[in-house]
Amino acid sequence: MTHASAPGKIILFGEHAVVYGRPALAVPVTQVHADVDVSDSPRPGIWIEAPDIYLRAELNTLSSDHPIASVIHNFLFLLRVSRFPNLAIKIISTIPVASGLGSGAAVTVALTRALAAHLNYAMADEEVNAFTYEIEKLHHGTPSGIDNTVVNYARPVYFVKGQPIETFHVGKPFTIVIADTGISAPTNESVGDVRRLWMNDRSRWETVFDKIGEISFTARRAIEAGKPELLGELMNENHALLKTLTVSSPELDKLVEAAQQAGALGAKMSGGGRGGNMIALVESEHAETVSRTLKEAGARNTIRTQIL
Ligand code: MEV
Repeated sequence: MTHASAPGKIILFGEHAVVYGRPALAVPVTQVHADVDVSDSPRPGIWIEAPDIYLRAELNTLSSDHPIASVIHNFLFLLRVSRFPNLAIKIISTIPVASGLGSGAAVTVALTRALAAHLNYAMADEEVNAFTYEIEKLHHGTPSGIDNTVVNYARPVYFVKGQPIETFHVGKPFTIVIADTGISAPTNESVGDVRRLWMNDRSRWETVFDKIGEISFTARRAIEAGKPELLGELMNENHALLKTLTVSSPELDKLVEAAQQAGALGAKMSGGGRGGNMIALVESEHAETVSRTLKEAGARNTIRTQIL
């Protein structure tokens, strides 16, 4: 049996604007992960079991655009072999689906790595990343590539679309509380809506993207200089700009306000928006109170994570 795992992620700053070439910062979240086991199977075919999404099926009974089937088909195409071995593939993910935590990218990375290792196909990290980006494009239309990059390298990234990957140094660790609205919201929908806004009034939205890009740039400097307390205000500003982009939601706004009132240094939605998760920057001694307040304000679940 061959095993591979990939973490979830959060975007600290710059979502949506990153699709338009502005910088964004993202970090892995190892408290949630996708895990894949691949083994030889006595049964003919490629059998997939993914209990979290109630899936138990042979590959060829799934439509070719099924998210998991498309990874396997594309991977087998990459191998250019005419006959495939009989396999049993088990996928377990603790990353909530369509919640801004990178579940799709994490499943693709873990599945690709497990298949590659099991079939003795040497694949460098760069190749896994490029492959995962192609899969993200099939499902998300115009992804920037930030999700697959942070999940694949499992390191903090300062990401600019089309540029070499830059990681950043964290001068002083800081604590983030992540809270889930419990509302699943596919990224391609919010990304598509932002694109429609942009097509109707490019100059207006380019200005908003510029402002978000400047926030990401400043935030990186603050993190590297070991001044994470400066990030709170930047998070609040970034959230306000995401609201003008129409990608927040009443539930996300409620959680952001609840975190701010409970003593967080700043808060914002994270990822595609419209649902999914928000993040709050907290002093570690306030993490518990902020977490509790977020749950009282409707969060389905909270995760506390330290950015090191
Ligand atoms: C999704 O995690 C981040 C977005 O900026 C989309 C993307 O960058 O591909 C909303």
